[in-house]
Amino acid sequence: MRVGACGLNNTDINTRTGWYDSKVESSVTEELGLHGRDDGAAASWNKSTVTFPRIQGAAVAGVITAVGGSVEPSRIGQRVLVDPSVRDPSLPRRAQLVEYLGSERDGGFAEFVAVPSVNAHAVETSLTDAELATFPCSYDTAEEMLSRAALAAGETILVTGAGGGVGTALIQLALVRGAQVVAVASRSKQQRLEALGVHHFVARDEGDLRASVEHLVGERGVDVVADVVGGSLFGPVLKVLRRGGRYTSSGAIGGPMAAMDLRDLIYKDLEMYGITNPTADTFRRLVHLIEEGLLRPLLDAAYPLEDLRMAQEQLLKRAHVGKLVVVP
Ligand SMILES: NC(=O)c1ccc[n+]([C@@H]2O[C@H](COP(=O)([O-])OP(=O)(O)OC[C@H]3O[C@@H](n4cnc5c(N)ncnc54)[C@H](OP(=O)(O)O)[C@@H]3O)[C@@H](O)[C@H]2O)c1
Repeated sequence: MRVGACGLNNTDINTRTGWYDSKVESSVTEELGLHGRDDGAAASWNKSTVTFPRIQGAAVAGVITAVGGSVEPSRIGQRVLVDPSVRDPSLPRRAQLVEYLGSERDGGFAEFVAVPSVNAHAVETSLTDAELATFPCSYDTAEEMLSRAALAAGETILVTGAGGGVGTALIQLALVRGAQVVAVASRSKQQRLEALGVHHFVARDEGDLRASVEHLVGERGVDVVADVVGGSLFGPVLKVLRRGGRYTSSGAIGGPMAAMDLRDLIYKDLEMYGITNPTADTFRRLVHLIEEGLLRPLLDAAYPLEDLRMAQEQLLKRAHVGKLVVVP
């Protein structure tokens, strides 16, 4: 297929710098993200090492230009959004993700990319390719997080890293479910997140998180925490979960090593979910929500493909709200 646009995601940087390797205990700083590591860390998300040459880029929107022998030729010319998770349905539930676009197989930082036909979802929308490329990876992951935690209408959810790609996806998808959203991010992002519809904003680096959240939602706490930051925020967000609450995580951008008070897990009967394997149904649900016009593409900036390095430098500054994409 011809790539119309490809979204930027941290997984490309995590893989390129070897961050998924268990020998790495730090977060991906701007310095590491730009220059990589020199300690031989090389594992990818599933612990297998990536082979080279490899074209990265997980979030592809574009048009089918050619098909394999077993695929209906009428698909040529179809506008598609690509599910980046290549699965083997014969494997057990939660272990079906076998290849990720841009990691174990070539991705969309290119003019053309080949993907399995089941991963290329026809999409009917007036959105541009750059807008469409904001959705894969962030939104399917976010929807899987909410679905596993069974977020329901009227419940309160706290979202960390709320200005980022997954954070803004979590906010929009939680609002679609009719939940009340508490966003945690840098103060500089408050206005843009309030414009997105969050009910409460908490500045992550100002004062005591628990006191701020309880002041807003009451001592009972929140029903669900959706966390992509981890690190030093992990312990505190467990304190703001109500008894019987659910914690769901798909990222540790603030650091992979975290301390917790096990009494929160045990004596509050918490449920915890780790998410890296969104299902095919989740991606189909995402395409449906896009076609229904229920999600706003939050395109912070689009760069020409040849400026990918500059675009990743910008991603690492974490000043964006929403997504960055490259356009061939
Ligand atoms: N498991 C999966 O399938 C999956 C899929 C997508 C993403 N992820 C992971 O989820 C994480 C978030 O991804 P994303 O695309 O939302 O990232 P992003 O767009 O770069 O946003 C990350 C946000 O985290 C906040 N943050 C808080 N503490 C931070 C710290 N110590 N260092 C850096 N940022 C910090 C930043 O905002 P403030 O500074 O304003 O708080 C920023 O808005 C990444 O680790 C990514 O690899 C996992």
